Amino acid sequence: MSKFPNLWIPAIGGTALVLGVAYGVATKKYSDDWIRAMEGQVALAQSAMVKTEAEIGVYLERVAELEAVVATFESNLHSTMNDGRSVSQPATLLSAKYKLGRRALPAEIIAWDVDVLPDGRGLPKGRGTVFEGEQEFAEHCASCHGDFAEGVDNWPVLAGGFDTLADEDPVKTVGSYWPYLSTVWDYVHRSMPFGAAQTLSDDQVYAIVAYILYSNDLVEEEFELNHENFGEFQMHNSKGFIIDDRSDVEYTLWRNEPCMENCKQNVEITMRASVLDVTPEIESIMEEENALIGTALVDSGLLKAGEKVFKKCQACHQIGTGASNKVGPHLNDIFGREMGGLDDFKYSHVFRIAAEENRIWDEESMVAFLSKPNDYLKGTKMAFAGLKRAEDLEAIVAYLRSGGN
Ligand code: HEC
Ligand code: HEC
Repeated sequence: MSKFPNLWIPAIGGTALVLGVAYGVATKKYSDDWIRAMEGQVALAQSAMVKTEAEIGVYLERVAELEAVVATFESNLHSTMNDGRSVSQPATLLSAKYKLGRRALPAEIIAWDVDVLPDGRGLPKGRGTVFEGEQEFAEHCASCHGDFAEGVDNWPVLAGGFDTLADEDPVKTVGSYWPYLSTVWDYVHRSMPFGAAQTLSDDQVYAIVAYILYSNDLVEEEFELNHENFGEFQMHNSKGFIIDDRSDVEYTLWRNEPCMENCKQNVEITMRASVLDVTPEIESIMEEENALIGTALVDSGLLKAGEKVFKKCQACHQIGTGASNKVGPHLNDIFGREMGGLDDFKYSHVFRIAAEENRIWDEESMVAFLSKPNDYLKGTKMAFAGLKRAEDLEAIVAYLRSGGN
């Protein structure tokens, strides 16, 4: 205990008094200011509300105006579409709401709206004969599809293949497979000739489609196709497609309303995927890989790094299942392989010499080669400066060993 309570007790009392007065003064002043500020804000809010109401009025007027514009556009558009050319309806206008873009002009819509339906809706007026089509086809299509639509090299065949549809390797052509003539017209009109789409006139398309039918022995050589006889034409495979009614017929049989809440009292794990062996553990994959390459342990971090380094090689090399020669030879089983050892790759002179000398790729030669290809095998056509970092070399060697899979 202090010897001087008579001194320090009054001292504490004095300090408390001073602090108390200071506090009182501060809060009083603060609340006056606060009330004034709030009053100011209320006044501001009131005037803002009046202004907003006025603005809303202006907007409503503008919306009414725009709606009138839209209505005029729409009625114009309908009269343009009713000329039989167009199939689609325009989407509803959102530009007024979001203030984005502008309404497409009727002419713009018609330019896009080129689809043709099986019943012939959307077809423009026009005509063309087999004979005219033969010439057009020779000029615009035969370079890829062959003079008789038989297909050049790997370009699509457009004719034949009848009665192969049930085979293991069916030949699906316009003649054997396509159910509707409208698809042929639409496809050719919209997307062919490949690389020069939509350069053909409507009559050219009619003629070419007539010729494709002729190539498929579906019409005689004096046949003319036009917008009037179009709808009557039955394709060979028109009965070969069925409407998919599974959603009505099957769906209800297999599906109940899903339970979303408190579906099961308690959940019990009865088996693990790894035990059932449906999901192999990473370790076991690694083990298999290790066994495959005869290395005791390959660390997966190193392989990952190697895979990354291999991105530098990828432009020219492939590795792994299905790898083939590209700019450079494929790199499967590269370790133990003869340098320049693939029969089906055209190596440079220096690689051919290495092959004659029966030199084999091992880790040492690989590291030497990859760190400076053109020093190690002077004159190689592998245009690659080399890997500088020892870590990269170690990683790529591990990756090549792993076989890339
Ligand atoms: C430069 C090559 C080339 C030319 C020229 C060309 N086509 Fe094509 N055609 C193709 C290719 C490629 C495909 C496949 C396109 C695809 O599947 O995306 C194709 C597909 C087709 C198909 C669909 C075949 C199918 O069974 O799927 C038809 C029909 C067709 N072309 C007709 C024509 C007609 C008619 C012409 C001439 C006006 C023409 N092509 C000109 C390359 C060409
Ligand atoms: C720009 C293309 C290119 C790049 C990038 C490239 N290579 Fe090559 N590589 C070649 C060519 C071309 C050859 C054949 C060399 C020759 O005939 O002179 C070759 C040869 C090889 C060979 C010898 C194969 C054999 O059959 O003897 C190995 C190994 C090799 N490259 C690995 C790599 C690796 C690993 C990388 C990436 C770090 C890489 N290459 C990057 C083009 C390339």
